[in-house]
Amino acid sequence: MSGGGWVRGVGIIGAGYVGLTLGVFLASKYVRTICVEKDEEKVGRIMKGLSPIHEQGLPELLRQVVEDGVLEARTEIGDMFEEVDVIFITVGTPTGSDGSPDLSQVEEASRQIGNALAASKTGAPLIVVKSTVPPGTTWGIVRPIIEKTSDRVCGKDFHLCVNPEFLREGSALQDTMNPDRIVIGTKHSWAAESLKKFYETLYNPKKIPMLITSPTNAELIKLATNAYLALKISFINLISQICEAVEDGDVGVVAEGLGLDPRIGPLFLRAGLGFGGSCLPKDLRALKWFAAGLGVDASLLDSVLAINGAQRIRVVKKSESLLGGLRGRKVAVLGLAFKPGTDDVREAAAIEIIRELLARGAEVRVHDPAALDNAMRVLGGGVTYCQRIQDCLDGADLAIISTEWPEYALLDPSTVMSLMHNPIIIDGRRILDNKRFREAGVKTYTIGLYQ
Ligand SMILES: NC(=O)c1ccc[n+]([C@@H]2O[C@H](COP(=O)([O-])OP(=O)(O)OC[C@H]3O[C@@H](n4cnc5c(N)ncnc54)[C@H](O)[C@@H]3O)[C@@H](O)[C@H]2O)c1
Repeated sequence: MSGGGWVRGVGIIGAGYVGLTLGVFLASKYVRTICVEKDEEKVGRIMKGLSPIHEQGLPELLRQVVEDGVLEARTEIGDMFEEVDVIFITVGTPTGSDGSPDLSQVEEASRQIGNALAASKTGAPLIVVKSTVPPGTTWGIVRPIIEKTSDRVCGKDFHLCVNPEFLREGSALQDTMNPDRIVIGTKHSWAAESLKKFYETLYNPKKIPMLITSPTNAELIKLATNAYLALKISFINLISQICEAVEDGDVGVVAEGLGLDPRIGPLFLRAGLGFGGSCLPKDLRALKWFAAGLGVDASLLDSVLAINGAQRIRVVKKSESLLGGLRGRKVAVLGLAFKPGTDDVREAAAIEIIRELLARGAEVRVHDPAALDNAMRVLGGGVTYCQRIQDCLDGADLAIISTEWPEYALLDPSTVMSLMHNPIIIDGRRILDNKRFREAGVKTYTIGLYQ
């Protein structure tokens, strides 16, 4: 049995969080899927049925689709067009050294696709840019690279669209299975209709809104979405600072009241250590850079980033004032991933906080249920990595909760009292029952709470 309608098979360039999740989902729908990934280690793991990333539900489904032979991974694109009709580009688009988006991976993937197309003898494939790119990239950069390397014409010999991804790490597979919307940007109706038809074989079109627009609008929808989400987080973090300074202030209650307004809504109003990860900060910077190029004043976005950075430094300064200096003090950091449910530490609040603690002379011990290996690659040997929460807290002068993993919400005040040298906890994610901890003798500092 095979899915995907008119599509014989799908190729995916880049098997990271987006590409691998998409590939596993498509294969689970019986669409023959080939992931092209330049990292040989990742390819080796995938072909053994092992997930190179931590995402709920992914390992089990990956193992199944690899065993069934519906999904495979390779390091080279080769003559893939003999086997697939659609190719998704899902490579990274990190921030470059000057703050602009680094599109080199997208350019390289486009060249590889162009070369494979030049050697292909079969019909006109559909190429879909899923990586997050600034407006103008798909038509102004991807299209000419493919046309030049393949000597073929877009709209005739191959088709092109941009189809931004909105999944959230931590629920990547669920989000890919049930997207809240599908946005397709192209200048050619055949491309839009073909992708729409493909998706209609995978999703219930009555339940998922589909928006077909120009490539630039589609590209901008993605950047604007992430900028708006970041704005909401920084807004509530600004309110949290006010709450800390006014009698009885509690940002949890203020956020609840705010969220009851249907024009605002309750989501993304959790005060804490701010946003991180591979998307929100970089997409905000990309939009800022793009707006500046147009002469648009985007200082609003600067403020969003500034509040986010300040939220992390405030925690370090608070630690310093609570301990009367950090030199030689033992600080336990609970949580390294930028959010629970993932092993991704890119731009995680914890990483920035740890670097700042180390710079101020603290001895840092860390714990995370999923992200220790990734954190080790980023932080190196300057900190002690603990497999158990207890070992992290043992003898600590202060603990910072930096990711809201459920296991940290289950911390017991009496355990904290018996393990820590100085029972002080900074609850950076507002997950502890403050009153219970205080009654047990633990000194707590909670973001957004007057105390
Ligand atoms: N991670 C998310 O939550 C998320 C959500 C929505 C959109 N996005 C966007 O999707 C894109 C991918 O994000 P990600 O988090 O999956 O990135 P990632 O870094 O996890 O994965 C990218 C993968 O592409 C591989 N790669 C790069 N160039 C290649 C090439 N030429 N050939 C083969 N493989 C190549 C890399 O080795 C890497 O494994 C980015 O533009 C990102 O902004 C990410």
